[in-house]
Formats: sequence, structure tokens, C-alpha cells
Amino acid sequence: MTNVTKLSAEYNNKTSEYLAGGVHYNFRRSWDATKVHFKDGKGTRVWDLDSNEYLDFFCKFGANILGHKNTEYIEAIKSALDMIVATNLSYIEYDLCKKICENFNSIDKVRFSLSGTEAVQNALRLARAYTGKSKFIRFISHYHGNADNIMGGKPVNDVDYYPIEYNGDPRGTYGRATGIMESQSYILPWNNIDILKAFVETHKDQVAAIITEPICVNTKSMTPSPVYLDTLRSLCTQNNIVLIFDEVITGFRVSLGGAQRLFGIKPDLTVLGKAISGGAMPLSVIGGKREIMDLYGTNKVTHGGTFNGYTLGLVAANKTIDILSRNNGEVYKHMEEHFSELLAKFKETASNYGFSIDIHGHPTCSSFSCRKWEPNLHIPPDMLETVLSRAMFDHGVLLSNTTTFYSNIAICKDDIDLFCSRLDAIFEHSVNKLKNMKV
Ligand SMILES: Cc1ncc(COP(=O)(O)O)c(C=O)c1O
Repeated sequence: MTNVTKLSAEYNNKTSEYLAGGVHYNFRRSWDATKVHFKDGKGTRVWDLDSNEYLDFFCKFGANILGHKNTEYIEAIKSALDMIVATNLSYIEYDLCKKICENFNSIDKVRFSLSGTEAVQNALRLARAYTGKSKFIRFISHYHGNADNIMGGKPVNDVDYYPIEYNGDPRGTYGRATGIMESQSYILPWNNIDILKAFVETHKDQVAAIITEPICVNTKSMTPSPVYLDTLRSLCTQNNIVLIFDEVITGFRVSLGGAQRLFGIKPDLTVLGKAISGGAMPLSVIGGKREIMDLYGTNKVTHGGTFNGYTLGLVAANKTIDILSRNNGEVYKHMEEHFSELLAKFKETASNYGFSIDIHGHPTCSSFSCRKWEPNLHIPPDMLETVLSRAMFDHGVLLSNTTTFYSNIAICKDDIDLFCSRLDAIFEHSVNKLKNMKV
């Protein structure tokens, strides 16, 4: 039996009169076709208007690392509301800035903004000012936010590597500023040392920054070879290029010191967002080396934003870091153990139904790929993944970006049991769908 979402559908019809498209963004998950509205949550579970219960591995695109209704977090925000909230500087900056800098040893100083998108743009501005150069290099399939100069595109060819929009680019939509991607950036394949070295050698005089997700969670949680990140680091140092790690997803998610701590690499600038403030409050961070960040302090580089450093966001982040840090960050081990078990069960059950599944990335932000389905080898992997992801939604399991499982610290044995109890129905449902497919 799949979930019935009648009340959500009625509510969404009504809402769509006023809310464009009846949704808050245009990036579609395979379950977005059914616009479900949620009314309650606790830990890893959420309930929709029809009272269906879901396991929430969507975690608000990875931001909700504390799970729903974390009491300590809620109390911290409530207490802050009883103090002062709409002001300029407040009483919380020292604690929070110190904690971020202590956890990320590449970060000497920070500035705050609201979204990852903004923080990335500000980091690029800092890099241009610091190096006196203007272009940046980014990588195919990485995502750095909702801005015209950095979203979507593919290399024009295998020589010039400037990005062009292409038909079928999910983000290649109308209204994008003309020429802005081409004039500002290059887009290279990731994890290819030869291409990177050759390109940097010929373009080093133009390139101010190289920006990368250290684990490409936005595309299947791809993990780079350690040598690749080392090479990136040394090429940037040798050529006066600012290395920017976009840890909007991985920061405070894969470890207290982000992916850079796991890989032992120190970027020049780091961008944080999502999980740092626990999921309910937006906050992003631009942080890095003293001599770059001091460009703000000396007014050589400008940084605006009405809500920069707003108190509730800082309080939320301060409390989130406290919770995550407790007992030497034992929650990370907890998440890793629980999610490793859950993903292993998923893979094992999938194989009983003829699906060949690979799991990628870190257990706190893993993705699955479905290579093939034995009974019909003609069905392409992306179609298999869409069918599986949709079946998961229909049986109360929410994923992100079709195949990504985000963990939260509230995950418990009962959640794993519930997940396992739904797996047979999920795969039976998927098999029935696939059997009827004409491919
Ligand atoms: C790696 C990465 N960078 C930047 C962003 C943009 O962050 P925001 O959506 O908060 O603007 C995202 C959003 O998903 C992201 O995944």
C-alpha cells in the first residue's frame, strides 16, 4: 500500500493560487511530482497533512543535521528570542567565531552571510581582490548556488573549457545573464590531474580561484583521489591562485572540521552553510587565511547584507556546534555506524530483487547508483534510480537529489528497523513499475 496524500494535494492546489508553482524551488526530486506538505516532525521522522509517517533522509538538503525538534536547540533559540535579536553586533560572535576557527585549522577569521550562494560569491570576490586576477575554475557536476555566473553549463570543448549552456542542462533555463559564465569562469572535468595541470599552466595568469566541493555530494557523493586534492593545493600555492573549498554540505556534516579535516588539506578559503546552524535557521560562513580575510577589515573588499551575523542564526550555529562537539564528537560515530548499517541493508535487499547498487561517499551524505536491473538490462541507470527513489517516497522514505541519504544525529535503531520493514514493499513496487516499462 502506498501513502495516500489527499489532504496535501488539496492544500497544494489552494496554495498554488499564490505560491508560484506551489513549491519553493525548481530543483526537482523524484518525489516532487506529489507535493506533500508536512505538519510535524520528531528526530528522523516527519508527518504530512494526511498523517503519513516518513523517514526523513532529505534533511532539508542536508541542513537538518540535528533531526527534528532537538530540545536543546529549540531552547537556545527561544532564550535568544527573550534577549535581543534585531541588532547589529551582539553577545555571541566571540564564542561562535572561535569555535569555527578552532574546528577548521585553515580558518583564521570569518564573516557571515545567509545562504551558501551568497557566501560563494563573496569568496570569489575576495579571491579576485587578493590575487588581482579575475577568472575562476570550477568543475563539471559541482554545484555552488543559485547564481548566473556559476550554475550549470558544460565545457565548450576539450581545449578552451569555458562553460556554455546546453540543451538539457537542468539549470539551463530562461533569463540567465548572457555571457556571464563564459566571461568569468572555466569548467573542467574533476579528478583529472593531467587536464588540471595543463590548464592551470596555460591560464595561471588569469585565474584567481579554483572552487571545488571536496566531496562532490551534489553528484553522487563522488570522492576525489587524495592525490588530486594534493595537486590542487600545490598548483594553487605555486600560481597565486586561491583554493576555495565549498563545504556548504560537508562542513560540520562529515566531521567537525569538514572534509578538509578528513583529507588533511588546507584550502585558502572555505565556505560553510547548511548544517552549521542546525537546519532551522539559515547561516553561511566565508572563512579563511588571515591575509585574505583582512581585506574586509581594511575595507579593501566590501561585504554587505542586512542580516549578516543576525543573532538567531549565530545562536543556532553556536548551539549546533556545541551539540555536535560533545564527547569528542561522538555523534559522528553514531551517524556513521547507523547509516552504514542502513545502507548495507538497502544494498543487500536491492540485490535480492536483481538491482546492482553501489553506495558512494561518506555515510553522513551517501548516494547510491543503480548500475543495472538483472531482469531487463536495457533500462538505463538513471531511470532505475528514479523509479527506486519514487517508490521510496511512496513508502515513506525521503531522499535528496533522487539518490542521496543525509543523516542526522537523532537516527536510532527503531529508524533502521522501520526502514528495513519498508524495503520489501519498496522493491516489489519498483519491480512492478519496471516490468511494465517499455524499454
Ligand atoms: C556545495 C554547495 N554550495 C553552495 C550551495 C548553495 O547554498 P544555498 O542553497 O544555501 O544558497 C549548495 C546548495 O545546495 C551546495 O550544495
